[in-house]
Amino acid sequence: PSAARLRPTGAPPTVYAHRGASSAAPENTLVSDEVARRAGAEWIEDDVQPSRDGVPYVLHDDTVDRTTDGTGRIRELTAAQLDALDAGSWFAPAYAGTRLPTLAAQLEDLRTRGGSLLLEIKGPHSRDEVARIVQEVRDHGMADRVLVQSFEVDALRHTRELAPELPLGLLRSTPDADPVAVARDLGLAAYNLADDALSARPGVVGELHAAGVAVNVWTVDRPARWQVLAAAGVDGIITNRPAELAGWSAAW
Ligand code: G3P
Ligand code: CA
Repeated sequence: PSAARLRPTGAPPTVYAHRGASSAAPENTLVSDEVARRAGAEWIEDDVQPSRDGVPYVLHDDTVDRTTDGTGRIRELTAAQLDALDAGSWFAPAYAGTRLPTLAAQLEDLRTRGGSLLLEIKGPHSRDEVARIVQEVRDHGMADRVLVQSFEVDALRHTRELAPELPLGLLRSTPDADPVAVARDLGLAAYNLADDALSARPGVVGELHAAGVAVNVWTVDRPARWQVLAAAGVDGIITNRPAELAGWSAAW
């Protein structure tokens, strides 16, 4: 599938499963990805950060405290230490033994089982750290099934320079004064806005579409709001409830 993801006329918005099916299974794990896949979500959104020894892992927070049985900042823990953590018990005892996935494991899982990845480069990354992410994507032959997104402009610039084939999405909590100029400057395929921000300035969808840039909205879990966003023409919805959104889309 095209990773640019401009919504075809008459089609519902694309479903992006936020941290996998994070309302039903431990976020940012292969289990939550599988639940989302079974629910019919083609796209998984996950967050990526490096270990102390430079291995990209899938984790949202800058520490492992909330979502594993360990403690500490991910950037101060080695891959061997991260591999020993339990990333499922915090969610429910049935998920004991779930591992924190490396980006490599996640890409391999998607490659073999199906699905595409909205890959968020979480937090500031050096050029070398971005290079490692790009290398993993290429090594797994997933470049045509990944959309890279970040709040970090520098991370997007590094990605553009290192891997011009990868489409880019800029995450914004509030829209830029001139989002089209920003999109052109960064070479964006997508502009990924917080739902509140879109409510405050709905015209941004038309402005970006006129420039050929997709608009995806996060993180939206209420059907009444899905309806409003779909009517406003957004291209994708990032949700913690992918099963429900996929079901809603199927009835479109
Ligand atoms: O995909 C958008 C959303 O994930 C950004 O916020 O904090 O959940 O990574 P956060
Ligand atoms: Ca994210």
